[in-house]
Amino acid sequence: MRTGILGASKEEVEHILEDLKESSRETIGSRDYFAGSLYGQDVVLNISGWGKVASASAATAMILRFEVDSIIFCGLCGGASAELNIGDIIIGSKFVQHDIDAQPIFAKYQVPPLGISCFKMGPDFKKEPTYFKADPVLQKAAFQAAQNFVTNNINEDIPTDLLKQFNIIKPGICEGLIATGDQFIRSAEKMNELQSELPGLKGVEMEGAAVAQVCAHHAVPFACIRIVSDKADHSAVIDFAAFIKEIASYFTRGIVRNMLNHL
Ligand code: ADE
Repeated sequence: MRTGILGASKEEVEHILEDLKESSRETIGSRDYFAGSLYGQDVVLNISGWGKVASASAATAMILRFEVDSIIFCGLCGGASAELNIGDIIIGSKFVQHDIDAQPIFAKYQVPPLGISCFKMGPDFKKEPTYFKADPVLQKAAFQAAQNFVTNNINEDIPTDLLKQFNIIKPGICEGLIATGDQFIRSAEKMNELQSELPGLKGVEMEGAAVAQVCAHHAVPFACIRIVSDKADHSAVIDFAAFIKEIASYFTRGIVRNMLNHL
């Protein structure tokens, strides 16, 4: 069984890359794919780049060229609910593209479906947002991995001074809706709009729903692990920059290691 591991930027997955026992490397479409053994599992790791196009391209190569059996995306997100703090962990259960809007032909947030002419939509066709789903088994494994990491490993995996610097004691873990778009969200106004239109929203980021769509089209199980780096508000840029530079990769390594150890 081969697992595809994707991260948007080097800083988000560099400790995972250090731990990979690389057996081969291939460049496709300007991206390097690192194949090898990671915590005893056969994996392919790729740094996709930010955004929907980059991550969808990387996921497609993972599936078609490297024949992965599942894809795990890991990285950071903006926290979209008031209870979430920096360092909390979100395991995506559903994914929506918050910047797709083909109204009035389709609903706001609806991905125009494949194989249906927009001029011949029958009476049964529902105009509603499109939610792509995580694979339930992988989602559960990701949630348990996050719990193991927080309960048993965080203090060994992350230097104490960094945990102090980011005021992280015991991160919260939740499952829920992730909204994806080609925008770095940094205003309370935009967040309020998304929160009111997308009930249950937990996090905002720039790749999850794109990879979820590719995985859905290819029937490949998908999971997404996100750590809250900022609150998508006026201080988001500063908070995100510090988090990604200093601590992001310790989180992703700890959670992915726990997940692969139990797959
Ligand atoms: N990833 C991390 N923080 C984010 C934000 N505020 N908006 C979009 N993607 C993010």
